[in-house]
Amino acid sequence: MKNIELIEKLEREKNLTDDELVRVIEGLNEEEKEELFARARTVREREYGTAVYTRGLIEFSNYCRNDCYYCGIRKSNANAERYRLTKEEILLCAREGYELGFRTFVLQSGEDMWFTKERIEEIIRQIKKEFPDCAITLSLGERSREEYECWYEAGADRYLLRHETADEYHYRKLHPENMSLANRKECLFMLRKIGYQVGAGFMVGSPFQTVDNLVTDLRFLQELKPHMIGIGPYLSHQDTPFAGEKNGSYEKTLVLLGILRLMFPRVLLPATTALGTIAPDGREKGLLAGANVVMPNLSPVRVRKQYELYDNKICTGEESAQCRNCLGLRVESVGYELAVDRGDSRI
Ligand code: 5AD
Ligand code: FES
Repeated sequence: MKNIELIEKLEREKNLTDDELVRVIEGLNEEEKEELFARARTVREREYGTAVYTRGLIEFSNYCRNDCYYCGIRKSNANAERYRLTKEEILLCAREGYELGFRTFVLQSGEDMWFTKERIEEIIRQIKKEFPDCAITLSLGERSREEYECWYEAGADRYLLRHETADEYHYRKLHPENMSLANRKECLFMLRKIGYQVGAGFMVGSPFQTVDNLVTDLRFLQELKPHMIGIGPYLSHQDTPFAGEKNGSYEKTLVLLGILRLMFPRVLLPATTALGTIAPDGREKGLLAGANVVMPNLSPVRVRKQYELYDNKICTGEESAQCRNCLGLRVESVGYELAVDRGDSRI
């Protein structure tokens, strides 16, 4: 089968054999990539029109109990200046975000156990009380079933937990002994069962990743059927064991976005900050490859630089309003428009 036929088949059947997926991931020439992206846009516009959903990201703590080899806020990074926002500060971010038109807030942090079940619950309740028309997305890592249930009860709607890699051998190369892929997967299925809209995802081009690992990621996503899928290129951070490893590929990330749009027509797919960091127009190109969500930063400017998962992260000097306006222009530059609503999944 020709590559163009493979792309058609992927759109039609939302699936390919492993060998065929490998060919689409790494065998397309420029013209064929454009065909993939064009079909991904057609599917995205059929399912969601030209609206780009937006989520205000509040990075409220960079303390983390984990030591992932790729991540700049890993616990062993003594150079990371740690911070925690107070409940009031988090609420101020949400208020500013609401004024700017955000109707989803993403509360993200490292795995910081100072934020107990009760403290997170209280934050969720307060935000929901003040902004009943907004969705709350949590991105707090692996926690207990009891905590997940409590936060769902308190009003949290969605949960992001990238699986990072679905291959056991690869997972071991990226994480220390005490972490477990099985537990991560279990958390994702648990979250889904509780009722959250869930987001999984992975890095493209993380150290030791093979094309077969990427196929395994796609297979895992087919099994999980998440509402959201977050992907971005791996980017190295100077204070991690992977400091010398090379960055993931921008082009390959775009191809994977296109593939994901064709395999999961209704999934919410962000053009991520990592994609905007690896290339100045990365997020625009991501939207043109099938992405339909952007997640500008609402964190206070004074802490932004400290939430540094990788080197040279963008948007660390800009105020929330600047990021909102900047993204509005970027989205319009590719013919789409930012939506002022919760942007729920249509799955
Ligand atoms: N490069 C790119 N993405 C990273 N993440 C963490 N560290 C890096 C890095 N060095 C991603 C992980 C995590 C998300 C919050 O950020 O996929 O789940
Ligand atoms: Fe933050 Fe452009 S989105 S400055």
